[in-house]
Amino acid sequence: MDSVIEDVRVRKILDSRGNPTLEVDVITWNGFGRAAAPSGASTGSREVVAFPEGGVDKIIGEVEDVISSELIGMDAEELQDIDMVLKEIDGTENLSSIGGNTTVAVSMAVAKAGASSYNMPLYKFLGGNMKTEIPYPLGNMINGGAHAGKHAPDIQEFLIVPVGASNITEAVFANSNVHKRLKELIQAKDKSFTGGKGDEGGWAPNITNYDALDMQSKACEEVGDEMGIEIRPSLDMAASEMWDASQEKYIYGQENIARDTGEQIEFVKEIIETYHMLYVEDPLDEADFTGFSELTAKIGDKCLICGDDLFVTNKQILQEGIDQKSGNAIIIKPNQIGTLTDTYETVKLAKENQYVPVVSHRSGETTDDTIAHLAVAFSAPLIKTGALGGERIAKLNELIRIEEELSNPAMAILDK
Ligand code: PGA
Ligand code: ZN
Repeated sequence: MDSVIEDVRVRKILDSRGNPTLEVDVITWNGFGRAAAPSGASTGSREVVAFPEGGVDKIIGEVEDVISSELIGMDAEELQDIDMVLKEIDGTENLSSIGGNTTVAVSMAVAKAGASSYNMPLYKFLGGNMKTEIPYPLGNMINGGAHAGKHAPDIQEFLIVPVGASNITEAVFANSNVHKRLKELIQAKDKSFTGGKGDEGGWAPNITNYDALDMQSKACEEVGDEMGIEIRPSLDMAASEMWDASQEKYIYGQENIARDTGEQIEFVKEIIETYHMLYVEDPLDEADFTGFSELTAKIGDKCLICGDDLFVTNKQILQEGIDQKSGNAIIIKPNQIGTLTDTYETVKLAKENQYVPVVSHRSGETTDDTIAHLAVAFSAPLIKTGALGGERIAKLNELIRIEEELSNPAMAILDK
């Protein structure tokens, strides 16, 4: 009774890029849930469709009433049934009729309303009472590629993980310290650097990929020594954005270099070894399962090789990767697949096959903090949600609160 849905409301709000997105309120007899959908810029081609033609305005004008009339009277505790109804309302394979951003915002708002109906935090409502693990934050330090301007590095994201941190507060401040140190290092190299940032709050400097790699590693070492903890560099290469299918090469425009698949694999392997990388995301094109397998066989024992555009949080596509041993980690972005039920199914399959799930934000975000709860509920060892910026710290600060609430918190286990 407490969690029976009484109303569903949808509104248009701003995202961090200034684009419209959707926020959903779900009101139950004894609770309330609010959630907003994020948006990608370097999206995988096999993701569900974010919005139908007509965008957010079409949802508010035409879809809101259909959803609310179906959901009113249903129980927010029965999230699987509700997610099924949302998919039935849409009626397409790729959610192109009402949009994956619509279904995901409703799905998350329903889950939060369910939790609130029983006065429970979301991570506990979804994950149970025995949660103790806090994920390590993959902090975004330097932005390039589709998330930054023309003269920034080709590699999309230079990330770090404070693997030696003993709690989430130490971890998030380690990330912000490295972020600050990097500004000094960039300014020392490029006197004209104005402090500009990319979409995810990392610096967007006019430096080469190798300079960015060197600075990233130097900042990790310096701050790590000062804090007495190990901090490891990581990357999201978003290689699909660099892949030129007609030339069959990865184009590094900034350095005027084109690498074929074999050269790209060698390049990535060399970077991992030289810089002692913990994690590399999308090192190859989203269609190249074989290339992922080759790289994983070569260096997957030393580094997490993660598929984002490759797997798009899709269980069937992940299974293709598992069959071919492509990668050993998977990005989990609920709006790539459209519902929390499907998101959970993918996490479950990943874990059963020793793929590390990495719960992630998108480049276009809001202050919604749901993914902090999902990362804890799913026992994900890593969360990727930037380092600074209001829409990024919303998740990080929520993790600090969650850690405070847990009776026996411990950082997750990372074995690379
Ligand atoms: P997106 O990028 O949110 O722009 O798709 C983030 C990522 O590639 O991880
Ligand atoms: Zn990515």
